[in-house]
Amino acid sequence: MFYLTGRLEFSAAHRLYNPNLSPEDNFIAYGECAGEHGHGHNYFLEVTVRGKADPQTGVVMDINQLMKIMKDEVHSRVDHKHLNIDVEILEGVIPTAENLAVVFWNILEPEIKGCKLHRLRVYETQDIFVEYLGEGDRTVPRIPEGESR
Ligand code: NI
Repeated sequence: MFYLTGRLEFSAAHRLYNPNLSPEDNFIAYGECAGEHGHGHNYFLEVTVRGKADPQTGVVMDINQLMKIMKDEVHSRVDHKHLNIDVEILEGVIPTAENLAVVFWNILEPEIKGCKLHRLRVYETQDIFVEYLGEGDRTVPRIPEGESR
């Protein structure tokens, strides 16, 4: 079995704020990411697929095809956007790296053909990332429109 990974960068703004919590508890939970006007991150997305090497080609999957899927399905939707406001697939989602990972998993998985989506990493900085292996029911909590902004 082989594990093939593609990585891409996107830049986006977010605000991590749950209206069901007090302002104090939001700052405890999210630190400066709870700031009133949001702020930006240079994110990285890493997508790993798992499969056998094709006997003809010797590859798990065409890496250019994987990169194209990542660009079309994720990058085109989020790059240089405000994740709380401008991204339909994130409507009502508090855009933590954890929640992004689940939403991205759900849109990427049906596009991966001939092998399996194995792992997804969302880096908020070069040094900090969330890893998701598709466990659980793959749903994210959504806050009614307007309240998550
Ligand atoms: Ni932040």
